[in-house]
Amino acid sequence: MAIVTSKEMFKKAYDGGYAVGAFNVNNMEIIQGICDAAIEQRAPLILQVSKGARKYANHIYLMKLIEAAVEDAEQNAGFDLPICVHLDHGDSFELCKSCIDGGFTSVMIDASSKPFAENIEITRQVVAYAHDHGVVVEAELGTLAGVEDEVKVSAEDSSYTRPEEVEEFVSKTGCDSLAIAIGTSHGAYKFTPEQCTRNEKGILVPPPLRFDVLEEVSKRLPGFPIVLHGSSSVPQEFVKIINENGGKMPDAVGIPEEQLRKAASLSVCKINIDSDLRLAMTASIRQYLAEHPADFDPRQYLKPGRQAIKDMVAHKMVDVLGCNGKA
Ligand code: G3H
Ligand code: 13P
Ligand code: ZN
Repeated sequence: MAIVTSKEMFKKAYDGGYAVGAFNVNNMEIIQGICDAAIEQRAPLILQVSKGARKYANHIYLMKLIEAAVEDAEQNAGFDLPICVHLDHGDSFELCKSCIDGGFTSVMIDASSKPFAENIEITRQVVAYAHDHGVVVEAELGTLAGVEDEVKVSAEDSSYTRPEEVEEFVSKTGCDSLAIAIGTSHGAYKFTPEQCTRNEKGILVPPPLRFDVLEEVSKRLPGFPIVLHGSSSVPQEFVKIINENGGKMPDAVGIPEEQLRKAASLSVCKINIDSDLRLAMTASIRQYLAEHPADFDPRQYLKPGRQAIKDMVAHKMVDVLGCNGKA
């Protein structure tokens, strides 16, 4: 078993009222930290690779590292760790095809910035190729604000998903899951201070997610798995450690965890988390180096960095996604 599609994972998640975590991977320590948490928590897992991650680490290195994680789980933990290997934000048919041909079990075609008819047409082409090869497809309707390596979308150019479009989109494309925009956003600066209020401690409180949009979409697509991108919570304790150890991340703000937990209990079956892993690893490495100024062996600071990833992922699985014990 081991490297699988998300089909079965999503069915169980939908029926069980939880979500599977989709974590972005870029190197060995990140993959090890995430997989160690998944093994300990007996949790199904989606490891996702962006176009930028492929450029940084090379497709084959990431694929082999993930295969190694599966083999390691089997041999050393006696556990058949189900991992779905997913392309995050594929922006063309060629990129999706290359990932499918290279062993991924799931791809996202993100043509959400294109006009509706064009989004349908590109998604349909990717679905045809993917399904022929036993691979599943995530598509997107609506546009999230925020910054990724390859794209930057301003708050003004972002738009919520229009529920009245989802049935036509899903039936015409044949996609297996749908990412929607209900107010989440990519990166560690999801909202400007002007878009937020402040609580009594002066901490920024973001505008709430649009659960009315999610509910309307779910009503129109009963039983269909919904995906949330941009779902890091930007824990303030990690931002503080970074800022106290030479970093500069003013006004970083994320999505409150209790809102994600609520989304996971509804039709949201996949929740994407990248920025919180980056924050955990960076905070731990900055703190380690500040406390051990004479150390210079990368293993010395990457070890706590890897542990910080593991702790963060375990916390998400247990307290936010509810997917622990479900593998
Ligand atoms: O949604 C984007 C992910 O966080 C990946 O980011 O494009 O910088 O690798 P990246
Ligand atoms: P965050 O930046 O909120 O972690 O979102 C990651 C994501 O959506 C990857 O596709
Ligand atoms: Zn995303």
